[in-house]
Order: sequence, then structure tokens, then C-alpha cells
Amino acid sequence: MNQERTAVIVGGGIIGMSIGWQLARRGHAVTLMERGEIGCESSCLAAGMLAADAEVGFEELELYRLSRESLERWPAFARELESESGLDVDYRSEGTLSVADDRDSAVALRRVYDFQREQGINVDWLTGLEALDMEPFLSPRITAAVFAKSDHQVDSRKVMSALKIAFEKAGGNLFEQTKVVSIEPDPTHPGVTTEAGDKVMGNVVVLAAGAWSKGIDGIDSVLRPPVRPIKGQILELKVEPPFALSYVVRGPNAYLAPKSDARVIVGATAEEMGFDKRVTAGGIYKVLQGAWEIVPGIYELPMIEARAGLRPGSMDNEPLIGWSQAPGVYYATGHYRHGIVQTPVTAEEAAIEMDTADESVWLAPFRPGRFTSSDLKA
Ligand code: GLY
Repeated sequence: MNQERTAVIVGGGIIGMSIGWQLARRGHAVTLMERGEIGCESSCLAAGMLAADAEVGFEELELYRLSRESLERWPAFARELESESGLDVDYRSEGTLSVADDRDSAVALRRVYDFQREQGINVDWLTGLEALDMEPFLSPRITAAVFAKSDHQVDSRKVMSALKIAFEKAGGNLFEQTKVVSIEPDPTHPGVTTEAGDKVMGNVVVLAAGAWSKGIDGIDSVLRPPVRPIKGQILELKVEPPFALSYVVRGPNAYLAPKSDARVIVGATAEEMGFDKRVTAGGIYKVLQGAWEIVPGIYELPMIEARAGLRPGSMDNEPLIGWSQAPGVYYATGHYRHGIVQTPVTAEEAAIEMDTADESVWLAPFRPGRFTSSDLKA
């Protein structure tokens, strides 16, 4: 039915690749262009936490509902991805332990816990001893913890490898090392121009270029997605026995996400540094200190690597998903700290919106047009 429909996707992070996969499965001819390698920016660096419950923020209930709905969809999304790609994405469902290690952090954790319970979120309050019983490598200084048992996690690097295979198997055309320098809006035949001067047209252009989404020419400057880079420094340690960690552990200043291939990912800073991706001694020191305070056994672990990536943050730090005011151009960007968890709902609902006349109730609060022109000029 949709054989004649063509989509051009700008950006090969988890959001662009997942939308491409969903559109290709719906019969669209999809061309996806990525300036580097797919997932090479923030997607592959992400710790892969699907932590909708642990990460709920005060005054962010619509964002919570989006993350929660997406988390509900993750098991089926991962199963389909694994079956279509033949790759394992290390889906883990142990849950998240948020811990406090002093009086102030215990008071703050209790406030979050009370808020979570008011919202009907399935969390348990644990004493320090109960938390240590569950996760013996926690610091004995832990005084309290909240267990979010419905939170899950994936290995985002493995997800990206699986998406590449699934996307191409569904008929998608992937062009890596292909930088889009401008987008030409048009109600029926929008297109893009690459750095090499090639023009590619479609029925829709999807702008999913993460922190780089605002910098692509062609769209009027006030209509571009108001997205900025927010630097995150993150590192990987090699797990060596007797050290072991079963749960994602979050403390006041760092988180640790254990993976099934003997790695633990430790993150992350959130820095307003523009497009600076340098790994700094101070950034890594802060992350390691925050992690060591809650799980001191990491001190002995070999370090695999430290990297920095740029999360796309919008003006209200919530995503921009839907038709933009640039004709024929659909935005899917600005997911900030929640890109991995929000992938299934973003990709599936965006594909439905581009494929049909339906408007997604899930995406309605996150439309690109929610900022006024004076917000955008400020
Ligand atoms: N979602 C974790 C982070 O952005 O650091």
C-alpha cells in the first residue's frame, strides 16, 4: 500500500535508526544519512538504563508517562529487534537501586520516594542493611535505598548493532560518513543536500540529528529545533571477580550500570560546554568519586575507556517529536537524558503519524511548535 512512500532520515542515532526501521517495516522506502558511523555519538555511549521509575522528576509527569509507556514497549521492541537481527541486546530486568550515603541524601531520597508513591510508582523503601543484603558491593555507608523493580536496561551499543541489521533487512538504505548540510522543506517533496552535493528527495524528511539538529542549514532559523549539546563524560570498567554488581545503582553523584559481558558503565557528568567532547581529568574524577562513594569495590577494577558525548537538550529538556512548521519535515530530537528509554514510543508513534493521518496521544505534549517565537529568539 505504501510502496511509493519515501522517507529521508537525517541522523543515525538510536532515534533515527529506530524510526527508519519502523518506517521500512511499514513499507516505506527509507534512506538514512549519518555524518559518522551509526550510534557513534551519544547513543553508543549511553549506559542503556530504562529507568523511567527511578528517574521520574518533580513537575515532569508528562515526560514520565512517555518514558513509562516506552518502557512497557521495550520488551517487545527488544524481542523483535533480536529476532530480526539475530543479535542479543542484553536486555536485563533486575531493577534500579537508588541509594543515599549521608543524612542529606537520605532526606532527598525520601522526598523522591514519597513523590513516586503518590504517583502510584512501584518502588520500595529499604534500610541500608536491606540494600546491602541485595547488593553486597554497596558501601556500608549506605543509609537508605529505593528499589525501582520495574526499571530495566539494555546494552545500547548492542542495540545499535542490531538496529543496523534490522533496518537493512527491512529494506532501508543506510549511508554512513554522509553529512547532510541542508534540508529543503516542501509540503510534498522535501529533500536534503549532502556535503558532496548530492540531493535526495522524499515524501518526508525526518530530522533526528541529536545535538546537531539545529545546525543544519535550509530551515528558517526560528523554525529549527531549539536543541543544544549537553556534555556527558562516562567510563567503562572491567568487572573482575570477586567484584560483582547485579542492579543498576544510582547515587547522589553517579550511576553504575552492570552489563552481562563483564563491564560496568559509570556515568555521567552533565555539562553545558557547547560542542566540546574532550574527556577531562576533572569530569572523570567527579564521576569516579561519585561511584566510589557508593560502590567502593570499583577501586580495583581495570579501566577500559573514558569518553564524552553530547546529549540533545531542548529549551525545556523534553523531546521535540512531530511535524515541524517547515513543510514536509518531521522532528524527532531533544531527548536529552531519556533517549534510550523513550526510543520505542518515539519510533513506533512517529512512524504511525508519518504513515497515517492519526495523531499520537503519547506524542501530543512534545510537539516542536510548543515554544513561542519570542522563546526562540531569546
Ligand atoms: N540517562 C543517563 C544520562 O544521560 O547520563
